[in-house]
Order: sequence, then C-alpha cells, then structure tokens
Amino acid sequence: MEEKVLGYGVIGTGVYCDHYFGTLGPVFKNLRPVGCSDLNVEAAKAAAARWNVPKVYTTEEMLADPEVDIVIILTNPASHYSLTMAALKAGKHVYCEKPLAASLQQANEIVEFAAEKGLFVGAAPDTFLTPEFQTVRKLLDEGAIGKVISVTANYVGPGADLWHPNAGYLYKKGVGPALDMGPYFLTTLVTLLGPIESLFAYANRGWDVREIWGKDVEVEVNTNYCGVLKFSNGVVGNLNLTYDEWRSSLPGMEIYGTEGVLFAPDPNAMMGPIKLLKAEDFKNLVNSKGDNVGARLGAIYGPEANGLFTEIETLAPRVGNQRGAGVSDMAKAIVEGRKPRVSAELCRHVTEGINAFDVSVATGEPYKMTTTFEMPAALEF
Ligand SMILES: NC(=O)c1ccc[n+]([C@@H]2O[C@H](COP(=O)([O-])OP(=O)(O)OC[C@H]3O[C@@H](n4cnc5c(N)ncnc54)[C@H](O)[C@@H]3O)[C@@H](O)[C@H]2O)c1
Repeated sequence: MEEKVLGYGVIGTGVYCDHYFGTLGPVFKNLRPVGCSDLNVEAAKAAAARWNVPKVYTTEEMLADPEVDIVIILTNPASHYSLTMAALKAGKHVYCEKPLAASLQQANEIVEFAAEKGLFVGAAPDTFLTPEFQTVRKLLDEGAIGKVISVTANYVGPGADLWHPNAGYLYKKGVGPALDMGPYFLTTLVTLLGPIESLFAYANRGWDVREIWGKDVEVEVNTNYCGVLKFSNGVVGNLNLTYDEWRSSLPGMEIYGTEGVLFAPDPNAMMGPIKLLKAEDFKNLVNSKGDNVGARLGAIYGPEANGLFTEIETLAPRVGNQRGAGVSDMAKAIVEGRKPRVSAELCRHVTEGINAFDVSVATGEPYKMTTTFEMPAALEF
C-alpha cells in the first residue's frame, strides 16, 4: 500500500534547516515540504531555492495554509513556546527543535493545550530513533548486560564557538549547555532507562566573556555542569555537560549492568561504535591467571580486557544524518491514529530535566521530578 505523504512547513531557516529539508522528503518519504518562513525573508528564500520548497510566506500565512499538516519550528529557543502555541491554535501538529519550551510551566501549557485540541507535539532530539540507539535499546531490553546498575554520559567540548557562525546565542539566558545539549543526553537516557526520579547538579563557568569569531560575547549562563541522576527504576548515573573543556577522553555514554558493560555512541554527534563486554568473559579472563594476584590485577585493570569487547552491528544502516526520524514517525502516527514515539509527555519530562540542573544549582538540593512519560515502543527496522 502506498504510504500517505503529509505536508510540512518550516519556521526558521537558519543554520540547522538543511538537516530537516535534507531528510524530510529525500530520506523520509512520507513527508513533503510545502513552505517556509523566517523573520529574515532572504534566508527563507535562499532555503526554498536550495531545497525546492514551493512557498515562501509569512508565518501567519503558513499557519493558515491547509496543505501544511505539521509545522516544524527551527527558530532560536526563545520563540519555541509562542510559535508552538500559535501553530496549535491554528490546528497544526507541531515538531519543534530543542528545547520544547523554556520552562516546565510552558511545557505543561503546551502538553495540555495540544491534548485539548487533539494535536501532536514533539521536540528534537530524535536521535534515540537512530539504528544505533535502537540497537542499544534492544540489547538492554534483551538483558545483554543483566540488570542495569549505572550509567555515565558526557558532553565535554569547547562549545560551538569554533564552528557555528551565530554561536553567541548559546551563552545567553535560556540557553547554555544544560538547556542546549541536555536534551540530547536526557532524551536518550530516559528512552533507554525510563523516567528520572531526581537530579542534582553543581555548575560554574570558565569565562565571563568568550571570543567568538572575533567578537566578545558576554556569558550570561553557567557553561559547565556536573549532574547526578537517579532514575525511577533505581539506576543511578552522572551527566557532565560543558562548553568549557577543549578535549576529553570521557565516553559519550557507557551503561553498566550485573552481566556486562555496554559502550554506546555519543547521543549528540552519534559517533562511536556500540561495544559489549560480557561479565562472564571478563571473569574467565581474570580466572585464567590462576592464583597470581599481580596477573589477576593486570587482567582487571590492564589493556588485555579491552579485547573482550565485541563490536555490535546496528539493526540497520544509518540513513543520512537521520535527524527528522521523529517528524517522520509523527506523520505515520497521524495516519495510523497512534501516539508518536517523540511524545509531548516525553519532551515535557526532558524539559523539566534540563531546567532541573539550574534549580538544583540554585537551591543546592536534589530536584525531585514531577512529570513522567510512557516509554516509546521500540522501532521496527
Ligand atoms: N545549529 C545546530 O547545530 C543545531 C543543532 C541542533 C539543534 N539546533 C536547534 O535548532 C534551532 C535553530 O538553530 P540554528 O542553529 O539553525 O539557529 P540560527 O540562528 O542559525 O537560525 C534561526 C533562524 O530562525 C529565525 N527566527 C528567529 N525567530 C523567529 C521567529 N519568531 N519567526 C520566524 N523566524 C525566526 C532567524 O531569523 C534565523 O534565520 C535552535 O532551537 C537550536 O537549538 C541547532
């Protein structure tokens, strides 16, 4: 049966829009571009020309266009809430770049209003739908590492200063690494391990002024966070989010269980293989050293055990940069009459989580989460 193709409109045609136009239509064929808008009309015209988008119009005109089923919001975070609400009021389903909203209160309003109107809302990131993270999910669901005990996840780098021409906005109120990069890590963590129960964080900043592309940018937010998470299922872990470290050898994500260890890719850059170590193989290696304590210690802490990791093939090859998988799933959900995997409740939980970093820093107390979500079904490949 031929797949139904839904129309989408993009608000905000800055640096990131090419990732969506490049996949929604060319890769995910259940969507077609209808139109785009931007406060900078020239940017909208240029994007439309690059990607053969039929209409360039104002946001109001887009919201009134019956050909547009899903509005995709790719503007700077400050306008996500107001544009999402405007699109819902106009009767459109919405998919927004991260974060969904600036606060839990705004996210609550969005979730409640969308439910009232019978419309879907989702927000990036959707990297948990990549073959890589669906493979990690399958391994966990199958018990490949037994009962999960803990997790470490790390976004450690120098920020976007060295590559993003408009990187200055990342240092303004309402952005910073917790709100900007936190969504990648929290969305992936909670879709693998379930909702978070509480979160504690310390934060500081390396610079009060950063030089970005020759201009001084005042830093209004903390740029280095060390977070500790407790999941509802008892798993504990840490999450470092920083723009203040030049380079690091910390893993993007590692998950530790009673029966093994899983190395997962970095949920933002999606780099790095999936590797599995079985506890049984590790114990066998150590036991093969007999009664020699030194050799046993060497096996436990030395490089030999690195050879015990097996690289796991992903369930499917990656298609392009795969951003947009969440919008494509939303379009399928609209047609099939089911909930999208990137659900409004999932995005609200993540919005609460990323904001909880600053609440905890300000109060010096762990933040107890108030929201939860239903785990999205694993994706079939
Ligand atoms: N650039 C990246 O690597 C990247 C990666 C992931 C996610 N994102 C997310 O994508 C979004 C956009 O990021 P970007 O890097 O493309 O930013 P950008 O500054 O390059 O582009 C944003 C565009 O939105 C337009 N805009 C702002 N407010 C508007 C409004 N009210 N109505 C219409 N247009 C408006 C601006 O004129 C600009 O062209 C952000 O939410 C960001 O978090 C960016």
